[in-house]
Amino acid sequence: MAIRNIVTEDDPMIRMTSREITAYNDRLHILLDDMTETMHKFNGCGIAGVQVGVLRRVTVVEDGGELLELINPKIIESEGSQTDTEGCLSVNSRKNCEVERPMKIKVEAFDRFGKPITVEAEGWKARIICHELDHFDGVLFIDKSAEDNN
Ligand code: CO
Repeated sequence: MAIRNIVTEDDPMIRMTSREITAYNDRLHILLDDMTETMHKFNGCGIAGVQVGVLRRVTVVEDGGELLELINPKIIESEGSQTDTEGCLSVNSRKNCEVERPMKIKVEAFDRFGKPITVEAEGWKARIICHELDHFDGVLFIDKSAEDNN
């Protein structure tokens, strides 16, 4: 495994759209392992491909010590709302701010071997997943804040 460089908000790449994963091979597994190691190194609770310079719809999230790898995830149901403070490995921590997210979501995705999985998440876990999925479309949490970030 290896620590990868983090793409930050001042790099135009962070605003680009990620493409779907098409091959569930060793290369994907190395990417996932590196993303997990990089997330741990920088004390994050979630990381998206674009954040390590790979424009693919792949994310690792961690909640309560449980690691979850999501490949090509899609939110198929969401309900309720919650507001809490978010940060991001790609954004200066001084910009942490409150963001509204769904309280509960249901996600369809694939695991690292290409097997379809369905994940139901609520609370903080739902928040992390929504945050990471936004990265696939070049969206940062600071875009969604009700606060003035300047
Ligand atoms: Co982020």
